[in-house]
Amino acid sequence: MTAIRGYVAPNTESDALGVHSLDQFVLAVPDANDAEEFYGNFGLDVAREGNTLAIKTFGHHHRWGSVVEGKRKALHHLSFGCYADDLPRLRARIESAGVKLIDPLPGFDSNGFWFRNHENVPIEVKVGPKVSPDRKTDSQWISSPPGVAGATIRQKSPRVQPRRLSHVLLFTTDVDASIKFYERTLGLRLSDRASDLVAFMHGIHGSDHHMLALVKSSAPGFHHCSWDVASINDIGLGAMTMHDKGYTKGWGLGRHVLGSNYFHYVRDPWGSFAEYACDIDYIPKDERWPAADHKPEDSFYLWGPDVPPEFTINYEGGEG
Ligand SMILES: [Fe+2]
Repeated sequence: MTAIRGYVAPNTESDALGVHSLDQFVLAVPDANDAEEFYGNFGLDVAREGNTLAIKTFGHHHRWGSVVEGKRKALHHLSFGCYADDLPRLRARIESAGVKLIDPLPGFDSNGFWFRNHENVPIEVKVGPKVSPDRKTDSQWISSPPGVAGATIRQKSPRVQPRRLSHVLLFTTDVDASIKFYERTLGLRLSDRASDLVAFMHGIHGSDHHMLALVKSSAPGFHHCSWDVASINDIGLGAMTMHDKGYTKGWGLGRHVLGSNYFHYVRDPWGSFAEYACDIDYIPKDERWPAADHKPEDSFYLWGPDVPPEFTINYEGGEG
């Protein structure tokens, strides 16, 4: 006979179903040349395939993003990766939730299936490698041992190369509806939120504090992609390099509260952003993050410069 231990939550983790990774984001922009230049200068491994760009990180085979040409800048679609055994289960769950499957978008046929979210944004779920991290990503805090200089002369400053995609932040007209949608379709879980203004969601198989984040706007759209770098020094170096290349607008250096990452955002040619990020919180598989609702004014950033007014403008919503 076991002792009475009080309430023990049922362990349903083994039955939990969800995608494991944000496989790639796809943007449409008017001129792929601008994207090639921007993401190349940002430190990414950008390859041209006709009018499409493949965005990778150096030393990693995974394609984290794509850019296609379109009339105006827009979120083209998002692709999420899952384990092979989970694909039919996810498809069944999504269909039983009343979400209609659609044909693959032209040029993006895969082993998976497609549907539209509640705001008409196409989403693909496919079988792919787990490219979200399996542990908290190492960051470099001490740049040199005692007796050795940590900084180089400016002339020799290294080019910053992000290590991987961390997350994307999307505009949505309804943060609550979005949380519910991604919970019941992709199996993402809420990490933290700030009122009905912003929410952060993680994968259940071990992921950064957020692989998908949502911010309220007048229309759906793409706000930023975030790239993990090795150190705060790399954030600063990357920001300075981009500034020198003419990408002078952005926001940083700072530290977020929700997710805890250090950041610098560089404004891209279309009014959205690419983020250098470091030391983002990690949510291990099978662990429950105490999702909380925070005061917006108390949870956006711990420290950093004033937020530039253009930071939250959604140019896909016709505001710009
Ligand atoms: Fe971010």
